[in-house]
Amino acid sequence: MRIDIITVLPELIQSPLSHSILKRAQEKGLVEIYFHNLRDFATDKYKSVDDYSFGGGAGMVMKVEPVFRVIESLKSERNYDEIIYTSPDGIPFSQRLANELSSITNMIILCGHYKGVDQRIRDHLITREISIGDYVLSGGELAAAVITDAIVRIIPGVISDETSALTDSFQDNLLAPPVYTRPADYESLKVPDVLLSGNAKEIEKWRFEKSLERTRKLRPGLLEKNEDAE
Ligand code: ADE
Repeated sequence: MRIDIITVLPELIQSPLSHSILKRAQEKGLVEIYFHNLRDFATDKYKSVDDYSFGGGAGMVMKVEPVFRVIESLKSERNYDEIIYTSPDGIPFSQRLANELSSITNMIILCGHYKGVDQRIRDHLITREISIGDYVLSGGELAAAVITDAIVRIIPGVISDETSALTDSFQDNLLAPPVYTRPADYESLKVPDVLLSGNAKEIEKWRFEKSLERTRKLRPGLLEKNEDAE
């Protein structure tokens, strides 16, 4: 997979994508991530990427020319399956959408800024608009980092234990069960016996029950989406 991220603040997004699982995924060649500074595609001598909103109103708007230039230059080199724009008014990001996006080959993510981008960009270049939640961030970089992380970690081969990503919270619209590690007894705080029993079937059953219990208590709405849980 190749991900091209267009931003006015490359430093803000480079770091979260260069550690741990994301770093290993890139070292293994399972994903290539490129950062493009929008300012490098500005067309005037001040390198401006934003301007006042037609019709007045507070806040600047991301200009059309630099965004068209960078996206058209990328599109002239390869086909893109998705051109994503991060914005609080996009569709809500979810595990299901992460799963869907994890199987595509090339994608661009345009990080929104200021009051938003000129609508012509949304109308003519963008294929999906994604929000990471009903709150407003200072810019789309953190949202792009969240989306990229969630997508890349589930690309086959990225997590060495193949089943690990499949047992994450939300994969079956269920929250993950509790987990424990050594010691089995910490000052009389004990790990449930079943996990020490070595009985794989019983352990699987216990985990499923705990997942259901947690989901019922914390996120009952998820169960309505889940036929298996009935
Ligand atoms: N940019 C600002 N807020 C955002 C959000 N909640 N999701 C995606 N992009 C954003």
